[in-house]
Amino acid sequence: MIKKIKGTYDVYGNLSKKHDYIKKLFQAVCENYNYSYIETPFIERSELFHRGVGEATDIVTKETYDFIDRGGRNNTIRPEGTAGIARSIIENKLYTTLPLKLWYLGSMYRYERPQKGRYRELRQLGVESYGSNEPIMDAEVISMGVNFFKELGIKNIKVIINSIGGVETRKKYREALISHFKKDIDNFCQDCKDRINKNPLRILDCKIDMDNELIKSAPSILSYLNDEEKNHFEKVKDYLKVLDIDYEVDSSLVRGLDYYTNTVFEFKTEINDFGSIGGGGRYNNLLSSLDGPDIPAVGFALGLDRIVDTLDALGINLNLDDAIDVYLLTITDKEDDYALDLAQKLRMCGFKVDLDLSKKNMKAKFKESDRYKSKFTIIIGEEEIKTDTLTIKDNLTKEEKKVDYDGLIDFLDTNI
Ligand code: HAM
Repeated sequence: MIKKIKGTYDVYGNLSKKHDYIKKLFQAVCENYNYSYIETPFIERSELFHRGVGEATDIVTKETYDFIDRGGRNNTIRPEGTAGIARSIIENKLYTTLPLKLWYLGSMYRYERPQKGRYRELRQLGVESYGSNEPIMDAEVISMGVNFFKELGIKNIKVIINSIGGVETRKKYREALISHFKKDIDNFCQDCKDRINKNPLRILDCKIDMDNELIKSAPSILSYLNDEEKNHFEKVKDYLKVLDIDYEVDSSLVRGLDYYTNTVFEFKTEINDFGSIGGGGRYNNLLSSLDGPDIPAVGFALGLDRIVDTLDALGINLNLDDAIDVYLLTITDKEDDYALDLAQKLRMCGFKVDLDLSKKNMKAKFKESDRYKSKFTIIIGEEEIKTDTLTIKDNLTKEEKKVDYDGLIDFLDTNI
């Protein structure tokens, strides 16, 4: 038997209903905020991620699924969505109309060590908002995430925020971190030893060395921000207060991707096993670093898989309305034509309808109607067809009623 690849899983049954519910809710929230849907390819040139996400990030150096195609070109299966969307904006000149507010969803691929909440095929729901460098935009994007989680039933969502400033600030901060960690780097894990010169900021969120005293006593990036960056961060926090959003500043939050500037944030819940349930930030230099125009942007991505794991761990049940409206139950084969025609009419009117197409016996048909949790079962026999009167069973009250064929749609409209 061929088995699934480690770190992937199949989505079916109740899980597929949950995914569907969450995706639809996310779409509804994005539409409320006037975002448009964008879809970009799963495969891109490897260079996009090297230049966009960063040479010194784990995602690019250790986790990408790379392959050389039959034409000898280096391609990568996308590890995240932001870089591909940036490429699309440049290539299709979408930046000619700003602001550009986009939402997306889809699978991403990272060769990470699979564990609870960490998959090799992960699904993200995300937004990217281009065209404003105003702190109010950062706050609105964060509020979108918070509102989505609240609507899902995750009320105690924690927003962790930080500012990592711009390129100049990070250069200075980098030097400060290197001299802070240098003296004792031998006591750190191999990854941190590698990071000290390449990307010392990532030492701050190392999972292995998180209890090391030097991490706790490391200088804070917030004291390296220039006045403009400080002011931006203060305003973001002020707007979050206006929006009544609880946040916590964590000056060690640096995020794992190189494109961020100023505001970075993560969404967390009290279930910490899965890491962050979403994260994002401002990335004003991404477009220009990919030879595009200089346009500021802010966005986030939420992990759909982790959202489901978190809902399960918190015992939150989604209101999955998977019941059908009507099940058509024919007594013999002779009523099949009539039932097929009626099913079509009802479906065209927007009702969720099913009927037995595999010639089951009556008992099995009633069972199937129950399994689909149908609100009404319409029984169709010889007598019903002759008199054009249908027998309708309300499966909640168990009451049966006769309804004229012509009055059926009205009946269903008022009772569903
Ligand atoms: P990220 O923090 O790498 O950011 O991923 C965002 C979210 O995807 C995480 O918070 C987590 O919920 C989920 N996630 C990441 N890796 C895994 C995994 N291996 N298994 C399950 N879930 C995972 C980004 O990807 C940025 N592109 C976000 C962004 C958009 N920033 C600006 N715009």
